[in-house]
Formats: sequence, C-alpha cells, structure tokens
Amino acid sequence: MKLLLLLSLYSRTAIVHLFEWHSVDIISPPNENIIIDNPSRPWWERYQPVSCKICTRSGNEGEFQDMVMRCNNVGVEAIINHMCGSGHSAGTSSTCESYYDASDRDFPEVPYSGWDFKDGKCQTDSGEIQDYDAAAQVRNCRLSGLLDLALEKDYVHTTIANYMNHLIDIGVAGFRLDASKHMWPEDIKPILDKLNNLNTNWFAEGSRPFVYQEVIDLGGEPVSSTDYLGNGRVTEFKYGTKLGTVMCKWNGEKMAYLKNWGEGWGFMPSDRALVFVDNHDNQRGHGAGGASILTFWDARLYKMAVGFIPAHPYGFTRVMSSYHWPRYFEDGSDINDWVGPPNDNGVTKEVTINADTTCGNGWICEHRWRQIRNMVAFRNVVNGESFANWWDNDSNQVALGRGNKGNNDD
Ligand SMILES: *[C@@H]1O[C@H](CO)[C@@H](O)[C@H](O)[C@H]1NC(C)=O
Repeated sequence: MKLLLLLSLYSRTAIVHLFEWHSVDIISPPNENIIIDNPSRPWWERYQPVSCKICTRSGNEGEFQDMVMRCNNVGVEAIINHMCGSGHSAGTSSTCESYYDASDRDFPEVPYSGWDFKDGKCQTDSGEIQDYDAAAQVRNCRLSGLLDLALEKDYVHTTIANYMNHLIDIGVAGFRLDASKHMWPEDIKPILDKLNNLNTNWFAEGSRPFVYQEVIDLGGEPVSSTDYLGNGRVTEFKYGTKLGTVMCKWNGEKMAYLKNWGEGWGFMPSDRALVFVDNHDNQRGHGAGGASILTFWDARLYKMAVGFIPAHPYGFTRVMSSYHWPRYFEDGSDINDWVGPPNDNGVTKEVTINADTTCGNGWICEHRWRQIRNMVAFRNVVNGESFANWWDNDSNQVALGRGNKGNNDD
C-alpha cells in the first residue's frame, strides 16, 4: 500500500490508473453494470451501468469501503453520460442482479425511466450519433447505442451527484468523468457544483474532489477540449500521440524538439491538462491516437516516454497500470480488443506481488516498473520547481533540470 500512497491523489502530482483491479486497489467504475458474454465478460461491460449500487466484478460496497479506508486516496471512474446499450431486453443480467429493461429505458433500481433520457433532443433518424462533425449530435444522441442520460434535467443531475456524493462520503478523493465529450460542459457543471467536500476523516476541511474530464480531441473536431476547461482538468490526448511519434522517430520528429513541449506544441494550458502515454482504450486500439500510442508491449520506448512525463512540469501525470491479454486474434488479423481482466471462470484474479516487487497473475503493473516508479517519486519531490537547463545534441539525446531538490542518491 505504501506505493499507492506515494502515487496517490493526495500528493497531487500523479495518478495511477489501476484498470480492472479488485476493489482492494481499484479505480474502474464501481457501480453495477450489465454482464455480457462475448464470449466471456469483455472489459467494456463496465462502461454500461444499470444502477448506482456499488457492486461489480471487482467487489461489493463493503469491499469497496474497506479499500477506500485502507488507501485513502482513491479516485473512481464515473460513467454519467449514459446507461447500458439500448438493445438489452428485460432481465437481471447484471453484476448485482438488479432488474432493468433497456429496450424500455427502465432502470427501477436508480430509478430512471424514459423521461430521463435524451431521445427527444436527438435529431437523427436512428437516435445514434451519425455525424461526428455535428457537435449537437455528439452530445444529444446515443454513443454506440448507449442510452443517453438527459443531464440537463434537475432530477438526473441530482441523482448523479447523489451517487458521487455517496462515494465521496465513503472516502473517495476524485473522479474521471468518462465520455465527457458526449455531455454539454454546462450540464457537467451543476453536477460538480453539487459535490460535497471530501470526507474530513482523511482530508483537510474544505478539500474539493479532484475531477478530470475525458475529452478526446486531437484537433479538427467540432467538440474541443477547450470547451471543458471552465469545469476543471481535461485529458490531453495530443500528449501521448505526439510523444509516441517522437519516441518512434516518425515524421522526422526527434527528442530535441521536446524543448518547448507543452503549450508550445498546441496543448491546452498546463494547469488544466491531465497527461498520460496510453489509457485502457487506446492501448487496445480504441479511442484516439492510433499506431503512435506506446504501451507496455513496447517496453523500452514505453519506459522512456512514461519516464519523461514526470520529469517534465507540464500537466498532471497519470500512469497506466494494465493487465496482460492475448493481443492479436489467432489469425493475426487485428487487435483482440475486448478481452477482460485475468480471471478464473469470470472471477477476476488477485493481483499478486512477486519477490522482485513486480506483479503476477497476468497483471502488468507498469506503475511498479523501476524506471517509472522512480520517475514518479522524482516528480513528487520536484513538483513546483521550474523547467531549467535544457540541453540536446540536436538529435535524440536530451537533458533537463528541475531545481535542486531531486539530487538524492536513494
Ligand atoms: C545524439 O545522441 C544520440 C543518442 O546518444 C546519438 O545516437 C546521436 O548520434 C547523437 N547525434 C549527434 C548529432 O550528436
């Protein structure tokens, strides 16, 4: 647990994204979701909620509370744009066996009914987002069939804020707002305004939750990450895409060009940016970034890229922590993009720690890799020190300084 605390939100310099971990260490969405057999429990079923109950394959509410109490700097993913896919008919195929009928937009456990979805506002024939160049469709219509919540309604945003406040009262410190691009920024704000201060059992009086909005914007889209800056931090997806291109030396890029890294590369203001090399989507070909996204599969370049993030003062750092899966389909045709976490017949395996401090049971634990762990520790020490003494050889060898606090031989 010591390591988690080191990398914790409380230190306010770095986050670890513990994808699909058990409640003892988790930050995947903690509320009840549909169960999908495709052929066995894909990771993305957790992005299809059916209720606000704390009850998933990572654990129940008691286990979640226990985890939050033992490592009190836990943030969670909040899926508040939508519920599950519209095609699921009446039943109880969900992680806590709550009844729902998505085809009738009925979620009695919350409760939500047809009134609470955006269908009336969506102007497309199918009710789906059909044109990503039309900002209103991106916000008002269904994303990949997921039932789009009417966040503009007081009942809906109050229900969501109550759910998030329940988590805050348990001791949660922050939230990743999934699919923020598909919500109007002015509909996110009332939810944030309703959030409680953090639980004073662990946090200073008046502490606000740490929130960042997931907005994929690589430029040239009608929905811009800048639309969301008024609400707080936003994911800067250009960061990992460009850094991967530099590390791979593609398009004539070289590390010497990192001299003006940050706003100088067209990124959002540093005090709004949440930065990372890869995430659970783009490490398996979903979301944005394409081939230049480095992952644990390219370990050498990945360590250089992830090590560079905490060295540099730009943005708030997030480190990915993944699990292993068979990367390609057997015929080698495409990325095997659905596979869920390591499991025995659907039960998620424990994250075991090997004698050499790496993880076992199929968990990659990039955050425990020596180079990455040490650079995050460096960031925690030099946070606030300015960028100084840049040097490069006009090619791919660079150096930079961050004041004089980081000169420890430990
Ligand atoms: C710069 O450093 C890199 C890495 O050590 C080396 O491969 C390259 O030859 C150097 N380039 C120049 C122009 O000195």
